[in-house]
Amino acid sequence: MKIDILTLFPNMFEGFLNESIIKRAIQKGLVEINIINFREFSKRNNKQVDDTPYGGGSGMVLMAQPIVDAIESRKKTDSKIILLSPQGTPYTQQKALELKKEKHLILVCGHYEGFDERVRNFVSEEISIGDYILTGGELPAMVISDSIIRLIDGVIKKESYEEESFSNHLLDYPTFTKPENFRGLQVPEILLSGNHQKIAEWRKQEQIKNTMEKRKDLLK
Ligand SMILES: C[S@@+](CC[C@H](N)C(=O)[O-])C[C@H]1O[C@@H](n2cnc3c(N)ncnc32)[C@H](O)[C@@H]1O
Repeated sequence: MKIDILTLFPNMFEGFLNESIIKRAIQKGLVEINIINFREFSKRNNKQVDDTPYGGGSGMVLMAQPIVDAIESRKKTDSKIILLSPQGTPYTQQKALELKKEKHLILVCGHYEGFDERVRNFVSEEISIGDYILTGGELPAMVISDSIIRLIDGVIKKESYEEESFSNHLLDYPTFTKPENFRGLQVPEILLSGNHQKIAEWRKQEQIKNTMEKRKDLLK
């Protein structure tokens, strides 16, 4: 899979691309990520990418020209172009599973007051990572890329994500590691029993209990 991220702040991605699972996925060639500064596409002499809003109002608006030219420089017939916007469809694990099947994603990060409305004519869809406002689309681009990359075959073990929260309309079961007793808090006896069938049954029960307590809305 290839992911192109269009942004005005490429340095924000340094840590993201150079640590842990994402770094290894890139090194193994399982994903290619390109960070493109759309300022380079500005046709203004001073490389300006934003301007004041027509009709007045506060803040600066990103101009359509540098963004659309940047999109068109990367776009192929099989590209999916995603505009990151608080007004988009709320992002879910289901959507991550759907996007994992794409060959090429172009993620467009806004900033300041957002984009010239006409940018919306040049994208495939609009995604929000939640009902709150961030300063820019860079964190949403990292959130979406991260959630997709870990689902790509060979990045993490399939079993790891098949039993996770949201995979079966349930939250995950509780997990414990050594020591058996931490400050008087004991690991459930069943997990020390070695009886794999009983452990699987207990975990399923705990998933249901956990979901009932924390996210009843997920239960179907
Ligand atoms: C300050 S926001 C602009 C908000 C815009 N004026 C509005 O009210 O819809 C700047 C940029 O950050 C990104 N952004 C902010 N919050 C986001 C969210 N919840 N999900 C996805 N992108 C977001 C978008 O790219 C947006 O264009």
